[in-house]
Amino acid sequence: MKNYLVTGGCGFIGTNFIRSVMKKRLDWRIINLDALTYAGNYDNLKDLEGNRHRFRFVHGNICDDALLKRIFAEQELSGVVHFAAESHVDRSILGPEAFVTTNVVGTFKLLDVSLQFWKEGRLAPDFRFLQVSTDEVYGSLGSKGYFTETTRYDPSSPYSASKASSDHFVRAYQRTFGLPTVITNCSNNYGPYQFPEKLIPLMILNIFDEKPLPVYGEGRNVRDWLYVEDHCDALLAVLEKGTSGTTYNVGGGAEKQNIEIVHTLCDLMDRKLNRPPGGSRKLITFVPDRPGHDRRYAIDASKIERELGWSPRHKFEEALKSTVDWYLNRMDWIKSVQTGEYLKWIRVNYEDRDSEVCITGNGHPILTTENSFLAEEEE
Ligand code: NAD
Ligand code: TYD
Repeated sequence: MKNYLVTGGCGFIGTNFIRSVMKKRLDWRIINLDALTYAGNYDNLKDLEGNRHRFRFVHGNICDDALLKRIFAEQELSGVVHFAAESHVDRSILGPEAFVTTNVVGTFKLLDVSLQFWKEGRLAPDFRFLQVSTDEVYGSLGSKGYFTETTRYDPSSPYSASKASSDHFVRAYQRTFGLPTVITNCSNNYGPYQFPEKLIPLMILNIFDEKPLPVYGEGRNVRDWLYVEDHCDALLAVLEKGTSGTTYNVGGGAEKQNIEIVHTLCDLMDRKLNRPPGGSRKLITFVPDRPGHDRRYAIDASKIERELGWSPRHKFEEALKSTVDWYLNRMDWIKSVQTGEYLKWIRVNYEDRDSEVCITGNGHPILTTENSFLAEEEE
């Protein structure tokens, strides 16, 4: 068995990645380290708990280096797939500190523990540290051109600044100390399990509930939409075939203005829910623009296509439809998130154990290091 440490596996992309690995890589064992912030949903992967041979959940924080060392010491790791992050731009504007703590300091701690074990020869010879990053580190494009792997970093938001900073540390640990790292910079993902604070799931839920659809500015900002399943395939390709010390851009090849996305979702859901045509569009509400709002992101993914043979398999319109279907079929998931019931694991497990819960900069509880091996102790 090959052992991989996945951080942030209870979030949107991490959940999809772990589910995909469980199907596609039968000789992999995953250790999922997640702090269960507001964005982490333990229920997403709860059904895998029965499969102790291939999957283990560790409740803890990537900033906790003592915990990291315990995890690294338990088995020889073939890789770290680093998703854990504060990931929402709007929250980074309201409270940037948690972004520095998790995205910068947390990534540094993971790198440093990886390096210690690498130097001691306690990692698999083909070990890779995969930093899952974003195209937002490149800043904003005008109406033409694409981000390539050599585009200069020029982040606009505290979120993208923190991701840029962590990418720099990842590169520095490769160049300075020889740790085998690789970075992916991908565009906006969409698909199942995305927390309904991001554009697509927020709009789906608000259309369903007939609530206002807040569109920032004039809705003309452009994002390059990547279906999460395609992204997970790209990450597997990079982990297994990517060259250490390099970067791969991953994009969906589906540039859309925000207002187009909202219109498409309104029309799609009117049809699905048998509502009068055009009804949901009436919910669109233009609201003041996000400060520092990047105008356009678009990825040139030719390097990963050429070198690793990856390209997105899903067409935007089809994948958007199946995303809507997923949400409409998973009312249980939505209700649990909307009511906050999904946070029950934190309450149930931690109130009993008298552990410390501290509040992050953005007002959401994050657990400190006590009781980190929760899942194991629960057995
Ligand atoms: P998410 O917000 O849905 O999930 C983040 C996960 O990390 C959650 O499960 C959370 O509990 C966990 N986490 C947060 N802080 C932690 C800490 N200190 N210790 C341990 N776990 C912690 O994020 P996502 O959308 O799945 O994004 C995953 C990664 O991909 C992030 O690094 C993000 O920057 C990057 N990314 C995301 C997108 C996108 O469109 N979603 C695009 C480009 C890059
Ligand atoms: P988001 O999903 O937050 O991703 P990111 O900011 O990382 O690109 O936003 C996608 C786009 O949608 C972005 O241009 C901001 C815009 N947006 C809205 O217009 N309204 C909203 O309620 C949200 C959350 C985003």
